This record gives sequence, C-alpha cells and structure tokens, in this order.
Amino acid sequence: MLGFRLLVAAALAVYGCAAQNASLDFPEDFMFGVATAAYQIEGAWNVSGKRESIWDDFTHEHPDWIADGSNGDVACDSYHKLDVDLEMLQDLGVDFYRFSFAWSRILPEGHTDQINPDGISYYNRLIDGLLAAGIQPVATMYHWDLPSPLQDLGGWPNSFTADFFVQYARVLFENFGDRVKWWITFNEPKEVTRGYGENDKAPRINTHGIGEYLSAHTILLAHARTYHMYDEEFRATQQGRVSITLNQDFCIPKDDSEENKDAADRCNQFELGWFAHPIYSQEGDYPEVMRTRIDENSAAEGRPFSRLPYFTSAQVEYIKGTFDFFGLNHYSTRLAEDGLAGENPSRKRDGGYATSFDPSWPTSASDWLVVYPEGIRLIVNWINATYGDVPILITESGFSDLGELNDTGRQDYYREYLRQLSLAINEDGINVIGYTAWSLMDNFEWLDGYTARFGLYYVDFEDDDRPRTAKGSAELYKQIVASHQVPEAESTAAWGW
Ligand code: NOJ
Repeated sequence: MLGFRLLVAAALAVYGCAAQNASLDFPEDFMFGVATAAYQIEGAWNVSGKRESIWDDFTHEHPDWIADGSNGDVACDSYHKLDVDLEMLQDLGVDFYRFSFAWSRILPEGHTDQINPDGISYYNRLIDGLLAAGIQPVATMYHWDLPSPLQDLGGWPNSFTADFFVQYARVLFENFGDRVKWWITFNEPKEVTRGYGENDKAPRINTHGIGEYLSAHTILLAHARTYHMYDEEFRATQQGRVSITLNQDFCIPKDDSEENKDAADRCNQFELGWFAHPIYSQEGDYPEVMRTRIDENSAAEGRPFSRLPYFTSAQVEYIKGTFDFFGLNHYSTRLAEDGLAGENPSRKRDGGYATSFDPSWPTSASDWLVVYPEGIRLIVNWINATYGDVPILITESGFSDLGELNDTGRQDYYREYLRQLSLAINEDGINVIGYTAWSLMDNFEWLDGYTARFGLYYVDFEDDDRPRTAKGSAELYKQIVASHQVPEAESTAAWGW
C-alpha cells in the first residue's frame, strides 16, 4: 500500500492535478460528518418551555441505573453553548452535522396543540449557523427521548404513538424543511425496543417477548407514514431525503459449522433485518425466519396469536421502499453461535443464537464495543448483497475510552475502520456515500453516564462552563476530512494490525 502511495505521489508530481482522483481513498463527493443527540448534549432539561422526556424521568427516578448516577440535566450544555459547538464543527471542516431534535423541547406535551417557540428558535439558530458555515444539517427526529406524557399513554407499544409521531414530524418539516435536506426518522429503533423488552433503556418496561415486537411494529408504521407524508406534501418543494438509521454490530459465525453460520444469519436477520427487510427488501415484511420462529414459539406457548404482529398486505406494500438511503450505525462485530440466550420469551431467545467476542479483539470502555475493522467492510457488503445497490450513509461509528486527550485507541479505530470502508468502496464497489464519527464531543452515554467517552473533543463535566478541548482524534479526523485520505501512520495502540 505504501509503495502504491509513493507511486501515486510521483505520478501526481508529474501529471499534476489531473491524476488526483486516482489517489483518493474516498471519492471527492464522499461526505464526512460528526453526530450527537439532543438528550446526550443539550442539557437545559427544564428551561425555555421544555418538558420531561422518558430519559429525564429515568435518570431522575433511578440514578442507580446509571453507572455514575449522572443524568443529562446539563450534559455538554449545548443549549447554551451553540456557538462553541459551531466553532468546533467549522474547525473540523466536516461536510455535515448529524443532530437530533428533542421532541419535548418542540412539543412540550408531545402533542401539536402546544408548540414551544423557544424550542423552534433554538433549532433555527443551529440550522442557520450550520448553513452559514457551509455544513449540511442531517436531522434525526427521534433519538430515544419520548415526551413523558406519551409514555403515560403506553409509549411505543401503543400503536397510537405513530399518530403522535407523524404530527410531530409534520411540525419539523413545516418549520425546518426549507433548510434541512437530510432527514432520519428514527435512530436505532432496535435500541428503542429494548426499553420495552429488556432491563435496559428508558422506560425500562420489561415486557419481554411482546413489548419489543409491538414497539417495532409501531415504529415501522410511523416511519413509513412520515416518509409518505414527505412524498405527498413536502418533497416537491423541499427536495430532501428521508430515511431511517438502523444499527448493527455485525454477527459473523463463531466457526465454520453450518449451525453457527445459520446462527450468524439469524442474528443479523433478527436484529437488522427486523427493520431493514420491511423497508429495503423486494418482498417487504418481516424476515421469513422471524415469522416462522416466532409464530412457532408462540403456538408452542399456547397463545392464540403470534407475539410478532402481522402487517396487512397493504401495509407491507406501504412500508416497502420508504427510503432514500440506508442509514447505518456500526461500531463493532460479534461471533454468533447456535444456542439460547435471553429471557423466556424474548426476541433474543426467539432468535436462537448467542454472541461473544474473540478474546484477541481490542476492547474499549464500553462492554459491547470491541474493535474489528474488517466488520465494517463485511456489513456494507452484506447490506448490498441483501438489499441491492442502495446508497449507504454510515450515520455513526466510533470508539469509547476513559477520556484521554492523546486518544490513540480512537485514532487507530478511525484509521482502521476508514481504511476498511475505503476498501469496500474501491475494491468491492459498494455504494457508501458518507461516514459519521460518533461523536463530536464527550457526552451522556446513556446507562454508562459520563464514564465511557466517545468525543473527538474532550468535555470537562466538572467545570460549570463545560469547556471543550480537541483530542488527538480531532486533528486526525480533520486531516482525513480535508484530504479524503487515511494517513498511513503506524498503529499506536499495540493492536497488532
Ligand atoms: C448509538 C447511539 O445512537 C448513541 O446515542 C450512542 O451514544 C452511541 N451509539 C454509542 O453508544
């Protein structure tokens, strides 16, 4: 590779700019960005008309469920430090900034009868500031912070929550769609469902085996209705793109046995295909393997109907094709093997697989995140092979540590993951259009509080002013964004790549 680079450099010297494209790891129009989410950075949880979301309630009522007992009350204080955030983004030179709207900042009670002008003006300032700096806004409508009054009505397992979501989405299109051209309806719906099927995220209502499937069903319909609303009422004038962000830490078989190959496939179908198949496949609907296994398990449990709800054939058609790109969050890879895991019943158990990590894979500050750079190449290939040549936007990817400024682990992660991604584009011909580093800055990492840090910028949470300091990875990312090249530097973290 180094030899190749030297050759290209020599060619450039001789032929000048005409030869430039040949040497780029990423195409010239490839987009680089960074991401955050409202609850994780904004703070200002109860000011300027904002009301509670399920994450406010969760952290206030159960600090014991958060690793350091913390919450997002102040977080990075981005509500008051917008200008500082904009300066950091400009300094990085990114093409886009992915952020999320806090539903309860815009609609304090979740419903459209009361729109909060301060909420609208905060996001207007953000969007206008981005555009003035030449940075595209990529806006997520829902990054896990459901307004509490909607949880009181049942939250995502209640199919009416889709109605409330679509009305909220309309307010967003009406107020911001003249300037926002990239929309993501839901961030990681699989994780949202874990709030209803595991002892995990807010609202932590563990109706395992049922709640997660009902939530997913509502979310898929809410997504599709939002997409169609955009098509019918906004696309002609606003000309943007609307999709969803799905997450998958890819499953590969633990060994070459047929059982474990099937287990890895089930893992990817039960986790990613669950949402991707209804939207991106030719046939639509839930993956066949989910239908069969959950229907059979439900019957064996003596239930009169399946725990996995059915779409009508009209709904299957309605959901199919509701995308303009494939938003993928990818951090890590797992080894899958045949077996039973999770509570009985549960989505995990229905899937009939267990996952683990290869002990040689480097670890991070998050128990679920290990480093396996080839995984990103494998998963974009899998998406392409499974759903066709859809443009893939990596909407998140990143590495956690304890907050080092000289964050060699993160730098190695970005170098190696981006190198693999460039191979997927250049050698495998996969249509990847952009990459998003998670995250712009250290922030509230859900159940891990402030213990696991993902930022390109360090944030001092002990200081009321929440000062931000660029880490080594900010410098590296800036270089990559500017050059569209991954530097050849030696791996520093002794990972043996
Ligand atoms: C995915 C989520 O979207 C984001 O909120 C979270 O902080 C990162 N992964 C890291 O866990």
